[in-house]
Amino acid sequence: MAAQGTRERFSSHAGFVLAAVGSAVGLGNMWRFSYLAAEHGGAAFVLLYLVMTAGIALPILLAELVIGRGAARSPIAALQHFGGKAWRPLGGLFVASGFLILSYYSVIAGWTLRYLLEGLGSAPEPDAAAHFQRITSGPAPVLWHLLFMGITVLVVAGGVRKGIERTSLLLMPVLFVLVVGLAVYAATLPGAELGYRAFLRPELDQLLSLGVLAQAAGQAFFSLSLGMGAMLTYASYLGGDENLPVEAALIAGTDFGVAFVAGLVVFPLVFALGLSEQVSGSTVGALFITLPSAFATLGGAGRIVGTLFFVTLAVGALTSAISLLEVVVASAIDRFGWSRRRAAALIGVVIALLGVPSAASLDVLGLVDQIAGNVFLIAGGLGLAVFVGWVIPDPTPELRRGARHVPWLRLWRWLLRFAVPVALTVILLGVTLPDTLAALRDFFAGG
Ligand code: PHE
Repeated sequence: MAAQGTRERFSSHAGFVLAAVGSAVGLGNMWRFSYLAAEHGGAAFVLLYLVMTAGIALPILLAELVIGRGAARSPIAALQHFGGKAWRPLGGLFVASGFLILSYYSVIAGWTLRYLLEGLGSAPEPDAAAHFQRITSGPAPVLWHLLFMGITVLVVAGGVRKGIERTSLLLMPVLFVLVVGLAVYAATLPGAELGYRAFLRPELDQLLSLGVLAQAAGQAFFSLSLGMGAMLTYASYLGGDENLPVEAALIAGTDFGVAFVAGLVVFPLVFALGLSEQVSGSTVGALFITLPSAFATLGGAGRIVGTLFFVTLAVGALTSAISLLEVVVASAIDRFGWSRRRAAALIGVVIALLGVPSAASLDVLGLVDQIAGNVFLIAGGLGLAVFVGWVIPDPTPELRRGARHVPWLRLWRWLLRFAVPVALTVILLGVTLPDTLAALRDFFAGG
């Protein structure tokens, strides 16, 4: 294990918060959130999502920050530090999630890079669906995925301050400006109000479905990078005097804000141009087909807006991908004593290879997303809630370092001990696992 004294640290609170926000804000906000909201009743989904974020995700985010900062170790070692050897497998699940999620996340990010660079060059393709088909088959998606992994490895190899923190400080403000600018532009489109209506009109009957609840919970975990030790790992590079509840609220609030504003971009674009039918077509491809169609209809302005949209997406994807890689890299550094560069390079190669099947097949990609991006994260969150709620002696002193007044402390503990484990168990056993088994069956029956 690396000596504690030499462990790297973020250079400032802002650096940490922006890195954590960078991890949270990504493809999940701009692609998964809009898709799910469109599918599950607009504002009704947004409302459920807010409830899940406040009631389940935020307590777990705070739990990850407390364990990470308290242990100042990577996930497996941190869990062992507080809970003994029996808890190492939970850390192992986190590392497995890091490998698997990044393997397909990078494929989608690779498409984004390709759309982005194409937008700068040739005229838009008239048939967006055929174009998406081309982009996601053959050797091209593999090459773009490798390129994106290469960039991710370079950032992580640069270290916590010079790689992760610097990249986030530079890129996150750019992302905020871009996403707000895009929303302002979308507001000027004739017919934008149709999009707002679809996004903001609640279809309340959806509120009562356990399936939608499970989707909202899964999205809250994915979007806040929870249940796989990413936030825990970033918090392990903190100094000790941060007000963790405030920072957790800031991270969750910003993540929601970006998802919401991204909805204000996507919905008007899609609905003003009468493309809403296409969105329900496929989970993974929807945005990559619909939005380019929208941009193509908008002529010269669409070219610029389209390029800026994909820049925003790529920036979000990069700052999220580095946190996924960092979980695995930090674990390898602590466990095997490797240098950071070596760990980043070796693990980057393994993840790049792991992503090849997802690059070659949308079905594989969807399946890995379902297993790692949904089941593993919810299971990991359940484990964390039990760990902090029941196993570690008392998280309060760690919480009070840097936060003299901790509001809602008892509520937080109650949520972690009772409400969160019960809700996550119901969701996991009632929806997520059965759905995943059905998806696996379909996959093997169809393939
Ligand atoms: N939160 C990221 C997003 O919304 C994805 C992610 C999940 C990143 C898990 C790290 C860990 O795109």
